[in-house]
Amino acid sequence: MVLGENLILVTGASGRTGRAVIAELKKYEVKVRAFVRREEAGKELIESGADDIVIGDLFNDQALETAIINCDQVIHICPPMNPNEARLAIKITDLCLKYNINRLVLYSVLHPLLSEVRHHSLKLHAEEYLVNSGQSYTILQPGRYMQHHQLIWREIVETGKHRMPFNINSKFNIVDLADLAEAVANVLVEEGHEFATYQLAGPEALSQVDMAQIISEVLGSPVFAEERSADEYVSIAKKNGMPTDRIEQLCAMNEHYDKHGLRGNSNILEWLIKRPATKFRTYITNNFDQNL
Ligand SMILES: NC(=O)c1ccc[n+]([C@@H]2O[C@H](COP(=O)([O-])OP(=O)(O)OC[C@H]3O[C@@H](n4cnc5c(N)ncnc54)[C@H](OP(=O)(O)O)[C@@H]3O)[C@@H](O)[C@H]2O)c1
Repeated sequence: MVLGENLILVTGASGRTGRAVIAELKKYEVKVRAFVRREEAGKELIESGADDIVIGDLFNDQALETAIINCDQVIHICPPMNPNEARLAIKITDLCLKYNINRLVLYSVLHPLLSEVRHHSLKLHAEEYLVNSGQSYTILQPGRYMQHHQLIWREIVETGKHRMPFNINSKFNIVDLADLAEAVANVLVEEGHEFATYQLAGPEALSQVDMAQIISEVLGSPVFAEERSADEYVSIAKKNGMPTDRIEQLCAMNEHYDKHGLRGNSNILEWLIKRPATKFRTYITNNFDQNL
């Protein structure tokens, strides 16, 4: 196979989602071109299986054009909560049309119609442009990842508290990124997913109380849910150097989660991965060293 045949461009390649998708794609007879902005990330990705690297900024039109030329498909995974997300997706859609790319897979979010959550709205705008563009596409709408527990795992084990910054009774169909990556790869390598929009959520609606209970049972020691205050959340984000705009977007998301959670359905995900979606208990059991 020569580069260009079955060549898939992955944007956001060095991120959490991009890496998982590339690892999954490497199980198939395809070539992967990774778009990265750091040279070291490029080297790492080549070592972990990418066939080609384009280094640049996603907002540099020339770099983007170089990356898209000669690809068979593009999977666009936007940097999270980027204020220019819609503009970037529009640019990528136009370039896919210009270079006759067979399909653009847009990695969106579950319920992009949530108008009070800005990054959801921006993804909706991106979806609308793509649907009207004439470009062949698949839109994927993943729910909140189980992997957010990586950030609070040490605190859970050390304090016995499960603290996320929203109501402890709001419910979420959280989903394992490993399942999502498998679904993305299947959508890219299989026939028949053109002009489809797929909601990809986890199999159980769980609140923080439910998650704490499951973790308690796995650890064999009590874990209690407690709402982390918005003030504490903001002060930690500022201490970690997070840009103000991103903090604002995260707060808007948390306010929405506080009132409504984020519910969804796993039927489409299970159809795509051809097996039951991973349950939270299994994810915790398989992914965490319980003693740290
Ligand atoms: N987390 C969730 O629960 C969830 C749920 C549904 C959908 N999503 C969506 O999934 C997407 C990916 O999220 P993620 O958590 O995988 O992101 P991530 O780990 O933060 O990765 C973002 C990637 O984008 C790259 N990047 C950032 N700015 C760039 C620029 N200007 N030019 C080139 N590359 C740039 C980063 O490169 P560096 O390595 O150099 O920083 C990194 O590789 C987001 O659109 C998010 O909305 C997430």
